[in-house]
Amino acid sequence: MTPASAPFLIVAIDGGAASGKSSTSRALSERFRLMHVDTGSFYRAVTAELLQRGVQADDTASVEAALASLRFSTRLEGRRAQMEISGRVVPDAEIRTPAVNAAVSPFSAIPALRTALLAYQRGQAEFARSQGFRGLVMEGRDIGSVIFPDADFRFFLHADPAERARRRASEGQQDSITERDRLDSSRKTAPLTCPVGATDIDSTFLTLDQVVDRISTLLAPRLNTP
Ligand code: DC
Repeated sequence: MTPASAPFLIVAIDGGAASGKSSTSRALSERFRLMHVDTGSFYRAVTAELLQRGVQADDTASVEAALASLRFSTRLEGRRAQMEISGRVVPDAEIRTPAVNAAVSPFSAIPALRTALLAYQRGQAEFARSQGFRGLVMEGRDIGSVIFPDADFRFFLHADPAERARRRASEGQQDSITERDRLDSSRKTAPLTCPVGATDIDSTFLTLDQVVDRISTLLAPRLNTP
């Protein structure tokens, strides 16, 4: 348990599709005992739910109406914060399908959807505190720019597209990462971008351990304290 007076630390990790954010964030959460928040899984869960209701991304009125009926809460699984939609965690098998991969960027570009998730994402800091964590590592596209621009640490991961495609294929996933990056970077609201002042890491020629070690060196002075 962390003493109530201890500072709470926020680590923001942004980057494009298959840039290594999730593996890196998971490893950091284990190493420093931080809560892990994968906001991409939130956008995926909402997308899966809307698709299941027959809502299309180009029908903004239907998206807004459906969003109004969704209730978001959080369940902790190990160190990972899982989003519940109206009391149910949408399982990984339902959010990592080709249909969700194809639809998640168009849905994520809808301002009403981003607004619906904004307070929920910021609220993860309070949830982590209430669970006794000393901090959280949150990964996404706009964490260091919009969700937590004042985060204690902000990182931006990128890697060569061919290397990223190789990583996704080795996970057995069918995913058009270049197209998602194009849509995520060009949308008007909270586009994927390296926030000013963030530490930019090119992981093309680095192993996961090397990326985690590089970030850990910066975090350790603040987090390796009793
Ligand atoms: O991290 P991921 O590839 O699982 O994210 C899936 C999609 O969710 C991504 O293509 C865009 C959207 N997303 C977003 O718009 N903002 C975030 N903070 C996280 C994800």
